[in-house]
Amino acid sequence: MSAPNHLTDIASLSDEDFHHILSRSLAFRRIMDEGASPRPTLQHRLQFNLFYENSTRTNLSFEVAAKRLGAIVSVVPVAASSVHKGESKVDTVLTLCAQGADYLVLRATEPGTINEAIAAINADGYGTSVINAGEGALGHPTQGLLDVGTALLALGRTPKDSLEGVTLTICGDIAHSRVAASAIEAFRRLGTNIRLAGPPSLLPDAAPDGVASLHNDMDEAVTGADLIMALRVQRERMADNESLSGDEFHTRYGINATRLAKAKPNAFVMHPGPMNRGVEIDGSLADDLSRSLIRSQVTQGVALRMAVLEWLEERKT
Ligand code: CP
Repeated sequence: MSAPNHLTDIASLSDEDFHHILSRSLAFRRIMDEGASPRPTLQHRLQFNLFYENSTRTNLSFEVAAKRLGAIVSVVPVAASSVHKGESKVDTVLTLCAQGADYLVLRATEPGTINEAIAAINADGYGTSVINAGEGALGHPTQGLLDVGTALLALGRTPKDSLEGVTLTICGDIAHSRVAASAIEAFRRLGTNIRLAGPPSLLPDAAPDGVASLHNDMDEAVTGADLIMALRVQRERMADNESLSGDEFHTRYGINATRLAKAKPNAFVMHPGPMNRGVEIDGSLADDLSRSLIRSQVTQGVALRMAVLEWLEERKT
């Protein structure tokens, strides 16, 4: 299900909306970098952030983005809420709608939660816009969009220029990663050549649409790449027999300066965070701002979420 006044996934965005959101996110990034203030286009709007999974970047960047646009924001304290008295997700969502939610930023573990929330909102006739802030291993659309925006900025391109001729290697725990799912959707729309790399148990059996190749050999996978995206090893989503020790994972599949040297000379590393330093990425490489886009991804997260909120607001009025 996709409704026009929600952001459920990247596939539901028209090309025009996809390009518009990316372009506006780069414009908001310039405003932020200049220390200027954006127009308060969300003044008097009320946003609830309802996160059933832990989050630092997404939760706080949606809060900052909405506040910068003038909205009132309430972050639902899930751990101290009536969820722990057995209240269902739908009842919690409808409670927030009844309190006047214009925007509901929702993160959930169970696939289907986003569409379930939208169905309940529609059934009760509320105008609340739902934004998917990460849903199980299904998708994390704003992460995919912010990753593309960060790459465009680093490579000196605009959404119109596309990412044709750019090779992105996504590494590590692909199987459990909603970030990988959304990154593939987002980067392929701009023509990126995408490779996936990692241990056999953490890769799909076949290359998904839009992916050029699968690799178990990391050195081969990063050779000639322009962008290398390391993903967090998600031990919380793994069966016990899938786990490698951190050291073993790093030696065989981790990104470090030696491995990066096989990529293009000015290649960048990315990571959506939170990082396991010394596992999927070497800590000193992550901190090397001449090669690492990790901080830029976080900054772009605020800009992108401002663009998404502005885009949804334009559709309300
Ligand atoms: N990248 C990301 O979604 O981070 P958080 O889980 O901290 O929001």
